[in-house]
Amino acid sequence: MSERGLIVGISGASGAALGVRCLEACRELGVETHLIVSKAGALTLAEETGLSLAEVNAKADVVHKVADIAACVASGSYPVRGMIIAPCSVRTMSEIATGVTSSLLTRAADVTLKERRPLVLMVRETPFHLGHLRTMTQLAEMGAVIAPPLPAFYAKPKTIDDIVDQAVGRALDVFGLSWSATKRWGVTKA
Ligand SMILES: Cc1cc2nc3c(=O)[nH]c(=O)nc-3n(C[C@H](O)[C@H](O)[C@H](O)COP(=O)(O)O)c2cc1C
Repeated sequence: MSERGLIVGISGASGAALGVRCLEACRELGVETHLIVSKAGALTLAEETGLSLAEVNAKADVVHKVADIAACVASGSYPVRGMIIAPCSVRTMSEIATGVTSSLLTRAADVTLKERRPLVLMVRETPFHLGHLRTMTQLAEMGAVIAPPLPAFYAKPKTIDDIVDQAVGRALDVFGLSWSATKRWGVTKA
C-alpha cells in the first residue's frame, strides 16, 4: 500500500500509447501504478501499439482486472494520489458522469471524485457533439480535469511520440509529478 500510488486506466479510445507512456513515466518517477484496462482498451492497445496486454501489464506495479469490483482501488479507504484515464473513451467518460459504474475502471473513477482526489480524463474523440460537451462540463463541475490529448504546437513536436509525451507530461503535472520529458514554455534544457 502506497500513498503515492496512481491509478492508471486505459479505455478503448484511440491513443492507447498515452496510457503506456503514463506507466513508463510513473516508473521513471518512482510512482507506484495501479493499472485497469477495459476490454476495448485491450483491443486498441493491440491494434495501435502492437504490445500484448502482458507487456503492458509488466509496466505497472499492480494490475487489476476490469471486472474486479472488489479490488483495493474500488474503495476510497485505499490511499492513492488520484487517477488518470489515458485515453478516455466517450463511453467511459459518460459512465463516470452518470455514476453508473459497471466496472472497476469507472468505479475507481467515481471513488476518486467522491474522495476529492484528482481525476484526469484524457478524452479522445473528434468532433464533439453537444452531448459530449455537456458531459465534459458536468464532469468538470464534479471536479474532474478534462485533458484531451491535443498537440502542444508550441513545443514543436516532430514525432507522434513527442505529442504523446507532452500530453502525458502535462497530465501528470496535475498530480504534482514533473516528468523529465515534459517541455515547458520559457524553459531551455541544458
Ligand atoms: C481502433 C478503435 C478506435 C476507437 N477510438 C475511439 C475514440 O477515439 N474515442 C471513443 O470514444 N471511442 C473510440 N472507440 C470506440 C470504443 O472503443 C467503444 O466505444 C468502446 O465501447 C469503449 O469501451 P470502454 O469505454 O469500456 O473502453 C474506438 C474503437 C476502436 C476499435
